[in-house]
Amino acid sequence: MRTQDAQVLVLCALADGPLHGYAINAVVEKLSGNRLGPGSLYGALARLETKQLVERVAGPGRQRPVRLTAKGREALDRELRSMTRVAGSVFEAATPGPVSYLDRVAATDAARAYKEVMAGALAVRPGQTVLDVGCGPGTDLREIAEAVSVSGTVIGLDVDPKMVEVARERTADLPRVRVQQGDVHALELETGSVDGARTDRVLQHVTDPAGALAELLRVLRPGGRLVMGEPDWDSLAIDHPDLAVSRAYTRHLTDRIVRNGVLGRQLARLATETGFVVTRVVPVTTVFRDAGSADQILGLQRNTERAVTAGYLTAEDARRWLAHLAGEHFFAAVTLYTVVAEAPPVTRRT
Ligand SMILES: C[S@@+](CC[C@H](N)C(=O)[O-])C[C@H]1O[C@@H](n2cnc3c(N)ncnc32)[C@H](O)[C@@H]1O
Repeated sequence: MRTQDAQVLVLCALADGPLHGYAINAVVEKLSGNRLGPGSLYGALARLETKQLVERVAGPGRQRPVRLTAKGREALDRELRSMTRVAGSVFEAATPGPVSYLDRVAATDAARAYKEVMAGALAVRPGQTVLDVGCGPGTDLREIAEAVSVSGTVIGLDVDPKMVEVARERTADLPRVRVQQGDVHALELETGSVDGARTDRVLQHVTDPAGALAELLRVLRPGGRLVMGEPDWDSLAIDHPDLAVSRAYTRHLTDRIVRNGVLGRQLARLATETGFVVTRVVPVTTVFRDAGSADQILGLQRNTERAVTAGYLTAEDARRWLAHLAGEHFFAAVTLYTVVAEAPPVTRRT
């Protein structure tokens, strides 16, 4: 560890009041994941004392605790402001528009990987009628249109009129693509009219996933296939020395941000209970080793701020968390499940 880093860590450790050397090192370990060696700790304390950033407090014992001086607190504040600037340069504070967010996600290696698994599982053939529920801005419609060829039909459906408008614009040159506004809970499609269907990160947002599955089963022809890709946000593991903060961040995401945050693990059971035959479940785990790329999908700073407002993290935890994540050796992983389900040969109608 660099001498300067050890001094900053000691200043941070003293932020909440005077401490002895041993207690300083315990806080340093909590903040950084490592204890300082005795030489580094006492060297840092001696340098900070020389610069009048810390001072000994009078007390009865031999080992007098150390506290920040006014000058030391100013130095710490300066340091924290610069850490926040570092975090700010890595993480995006503003919320992107919904279309640009989806476009950006679709362009990532992570999305390409699971979308490829989904496409392989759906195995669209020429001449088929394929439904993409929650098609967003038409992300996958062009690729499906190529697979059904000129004799097939693609129906893109989304509840959001803005998504429908953009999806229509983007597929205007594809006569076999029809984009309609609608709700997966009440599809305006004939019973048994669809050969294949997909939902790509859609059911995690709906009010009644089981009801949505029943509608999808209704519109599929007997033997038709549904491929779903849904994350399990409870699997989000972010490396940080303070495991409790990582867990609180993930818990806030599943409790408050995503309506059905753990749908990934429930999907196979729900589909079976609805009457589908689940033939395959494929987990796709995305590993992020770069904070900027993770932020494109996870919105780390925005969601950390929300977690503070909701009482899952303290402002101080949040600041330390982001400053650490903006540093070196970032690691996060999350699993999305692709569930392949087939309507039975004679579909049970509900
Ligand atoms: C995370 S986006 C995924 C979009 C697209 N599948 C993609 O991969 O880019 C989820 C989409 O589901 C749509 N959606 C949410 N609830 C819906 C519902 N009840 N019926 C139909 N679409 C819905 C949203 O409007 C949004 O476009």
